[in-house]
Amino acid sequence: MHDTDAIETVMRYHQRTKHLFNRYAPGPGELDWANQPSPFRSYAGAPLIRLPLLGEPKSPRYDDLYRRGSVSSAALTIRSLSRLLQYSLAISAWKQVGATRWALRCNPSSGNLHPTEGYLLIDALPGLGDAPGLYHYAPREHGLERRAVCSVPLFTALMRGFPAQAFLFGLSSIHWREAWKYGERAFRYCQHDAGHAIGALRIAAATLGWSARLLHGLADETIEGLLGLNRAEDFAGAEREHPDVVMVVWPTDLAGDGQARCTLAQDLDPALVHQLTRARWQGAANRLSRDEPVRWEVIDEVAVATRKPAGEVQGFNTPETPVLETNGRAGADGPVAGQIILQRRSLLACDGRTSIAAERFYRMLARVMPSDDPPTSRRPMPWDVMAWEPTVHLGLFVHRVDGIAPGLYLLARDPAKVDRLKRAMHARFEWSTPPGCPADLPLRMLEAGDARRLATQLSCHQEIAGDGAFSLAMIAEYQEALFTHGAWIYRRLFWEAGLIGQVLYLEAEAAGVRATGIGCFFDDPVHRVFGIEDFAFQSLYHFTIGGAVDDPRLTTLAPYGASADVHERGIARCEWQQPSA
Ligand SMILES: Cc1cc2nc3c(=O)[nH]c(=O)nc-3n(C[C@H](O)[C@H](O)[C@H](O)COP(=O)(O)O)c2cc1C
Repeated sequence: MHDTDAIETVMRYHQRTKHLFNRYAPGPGELDWANQPSPFRSYAGAPLIRLPLLGEPKSPRYDDLYRRGSVSSAALTIRSLSRLLQYSLAISAWKQVGATRWALRCNPSSGNLHPTEGYLLIDALPGLGDAPGLYHYAPREHGLERRAVCSVPLFTALMRGFPAQAFLFGLSSIHWREAWKYGERAFRYCQHDAGHAIGALRIAAATLGWSARLLHGLADETIEGLLGLNRAEDFAGAEREHPDVVMVVWPTDLAGDGQARCTLAQDLDPALVHQLTRARWQGAANRLSRDEPVRWEVIDEVAVATRKPAGEVQGFNTPETPVLETNGRAGADGPVAGQIILQRRSLLACDGRTSIAAERFYRMLARVMPSDDPPTSRRPMPWDVMAWEPTVHLGLFVHRVDGIAPGLYLLARDPAKVDRLKRAMHARFEWSTPPGCPADLPLRMLEAGDARRLATQLSCHQEIAGDGAFSLAMIAEYQEALFTHGAWIYRRLFWEAGLIGQVLYLEAEAAGVRATGIGCFFDDPVHRVFGIEDFAFQSLYHFTIGGAVDDPRLTTLAPYGASADVHERGIARCEWQQPSA
């Protein structure tokens, strides 16, 4: 029996943070620039180990990431660890206008505010430490701050149940960073960003031939202990962090004997984590804003209501190590994965002209399908990182895809849900299969027509939604998910949407176009377009893909080693402001 009060809190939060045509969700109105939170957390007093900055490798190819068994596992070294972080949470470039500059990262973030922080629990590693330790990732320095040293017996006990050379990667969110700009809706954006970061890490791991799985059994309380987020004394006067996930990462080839699947632990023993909390910790968190954060009570409430209790993963798949496959052939063509990851940017404007080929469109959509691969019935990368059944489907506004009629389309990411989606949507929809659509891609045309103005209007009047090749609404199974799993699933629905977004961002780059996540949209008007009248489905995130128009005023600087003699700001896209409430 789930806590119905918590579910009610979530549903209330979701309702009041909807943007409507005649009112935006409550936000701060004016931005208090002097109090803008820093996007960089650091722990004063914790030793910082800088990671080596590496040159660009020629492999693997981007498409190899999706070809099972074609990327052999790199050994875990300080260099491969550096690569994992470089391709996931590191700075990818600085942008500059006049004397102001701001950092962009491999993981995108709503408003470029970057609420997500990363932590590692890892064994002794030459160049990093001669004992296991808990580290905080510092993207500005591309370094790891050692927060705690973990004894060898404790590390061994904690990692029992995971493959050789496995380590843990944790993510947390600083809600204030987003709330400073977006007020009440910020909690949603923090979850999207966490989903993007999960995707960025899973895909970065794939470039090294590594696997990654979220530990679904973990309680948020255990994550707080593991990552040191509950250490009030270390956060005195500093903005607190909220636990999101811990994932286990390991070099795939080293798992088991390579022939049989091994079940992975889904949890950590809280008593062992408690022992880690009693180790010697170093460092005090920096304060991010000049003044006290503004309190957004509904965010505090929904954060409490969606805390993950221990256990409770019925209906989730049991995570297993993959069986080794060495027959995957690496491709010789196509862009290099690292290049695509580092060049990923959000488009600022679309040219309103570029179209994409139907074949490319279908391939992009195939990449967001978490379908089990026959005959192994295993989830493809990166969907193997999450163990729940897919809950998010795509409602598409197709504008310029060669060979396909413009109009409204639907991609059911779980084909078994097509009937349920049909019942929830307008009876007049056609549900016809578009020409050339692969038989295993459950994409259907709902209604032909010019949806450009509609898409722009629904995405808070942002022209990028109507001027691209296509844009989309991520429509989640909502009420049933809450009542099946409990209020904590709410955050995971956004993570799934964020992960879809991360896949599409890279797919767009690989196709020679560009993408942008769209967190600002008018919720219920979107539902009305699809005919959704109740809470069975809710749209959680929008997205657009098209031909980009660059802003010639912006200069791009290298991610590391550029002059610091300019004013740093965390925010890049001043033009995307939510109008005041
Ligand atoms: C969850 C999320 C929501 C976003 N919403 C919008 C949006 O509504 N409009 C927009 O122009 N950009 C939006 N963006 C793009 C961000 O502004 C962009 O990721 C950020 O400025 C960093 O730039 P980069 O993606 O080029 O690294 C969103 C990004 C994310 C991850």
